[in-house]
Amino acid sequence: MQGKRILLGITGGIAAYKIAFLVRLLKKSGAEVKCILTPASSDFISPLVLATLSENPVGIEFWDKKTGVWSNHVEYGLWADVFLIAPLTANTLAKLAHGSCDNLLLATYLSMKGQTIVAPAMDLDMYAHPATKRNLEQLYKDNVRVIPAESGQLASGLEGEGRMAEPETIFAVLQEFFSTLSQTFELKGKKVLVTAGPTYEAIDPVRFIGNHSSGKMGFEIAKDCLRRGANVVLVCGPTKEKLTHPNLTFSPVNSANEMLEIVQSEWNNCDYGIFSAAVADYRPKNKVDQKIKKTEEFLTLELIKNPDILSWAGENKQESQTLIGFALETNNLLENAKGKLERKNLNLIVMNTLEDKGAGFAGDTNKISILDNHNNFTSFELKSKSEVAADIVEYMINYNS
Ligand code: CTP
Repeated sequence: MQGKRILLGITGGIAAYKIAFLVRLLKKSGAEVKCILTPASSDFISPLVLATLSENPVGIEFWDKKTGVWSNHVEYGLWADVFLIAPLTANTLAKLAHGSCDNLLLATYLSMKGQTIVAPAMDLDMYAHPATKRNLEQLYKDNVRVIPAESGQLASGLEGEGRMAEPETIFAVLQEFFSTLSQTFELKGKKVLVTAGPTYEAIDPVRFIGNHSSGKMGFEIAKDCLRRGANVVLVCGPTKEKLTHPNLTFSPVNSANEMLEIVQSEWNNCDYGIFSAAVADYRPKNKVDQKIKKTEEFLTLELIKNPDILSWAGENKQESQTLIGFALETNNLLENAKGKLERKNLNLIVMNTLEDKGAGFAGDTNKISILDNHNNFTSFELKSKSEVAADIVEYMINYNS
């Protein structure tokens, strides 16, 4: 943290007393610290304590009533590498979400050039309230990082979620933030198209043909690409997974045809395509608009082949584009995967087999190997899906360099 400039915004919650420890941790690690308080927060922590520990004057009002000196919020915003608001009360959260500007801290937030990180702290019912959730959602959209509140004993005497993350946790988040910043963003300026999840093929308005894909692998790939600075279009079938990021275009779909439509409109503008979706190979041939009633003893569904989305992308691939497909095989893994790589005009194919323990659809781990179109074969250990995603993206970047 040596030389990092951290602006600490403190709002009026009981957890403000813990900020003194955080200032100590930051100063010990070599960071420069300045503090801004909302008027209410000085009831919870003395400005003198913060000024002494941070070795800098503390900002509270827009101007000093005795000297007439103006506290320049724009300068604060330009000075800081990061603006950490902790604790963040429900009141200031609401004001941040709406862009209000009636104190120095709020004006500084609006003037901030770098990253803002917040650590909410409030009583459990306030934290769980839909209004609070809505405001936090808005902050996510505005590219603010949120350090979630923790569970435990609250100042009200109640137990539950709402306690500010401990100073050590906040410190670790800041460390991680700066170490990520110092990474090279290998995919900056690149656009990646990712397909993920299952597809649901409607039988009638209430039934569908689907599969057990959780979409996790595709989401981890999208996250890894975003972490490396890419713009990502994530086209995803029905899933519980959620992701918001300023550089992400999220396109939820149901069926293979809907997925194809998005891919057809995006692929031409992308540098990379990573197709991890478990697309249904067939869909019911006839669209039934009304719920099918149980009448006969046997019901026959006629199925028709779905378009192969990956093959379409392969057929329409430009020289500069890199296309990656997945192969889930139960037998003759390498031979089948090689056939798919060639047939679908891919650069790389990621293989896994359900026979490997811990690999596959729903879990949090996967075991893969990668075959490229120069016939290089690399096998990886069983890893978490986020590590597997990093391996795939790493391979893709090195393949191209
Ligand atoms: N895929 C696709 N569209 C389809 C079917 C598959 O985009 N309609 C993509 C998957 O996202 C995956 C790859 O193709 O990246 C492999 O899918 P898979 O179903 O294993 O291959 P198939 O060619 O359909 O062969 P088979 O089902 O016979 O194994």
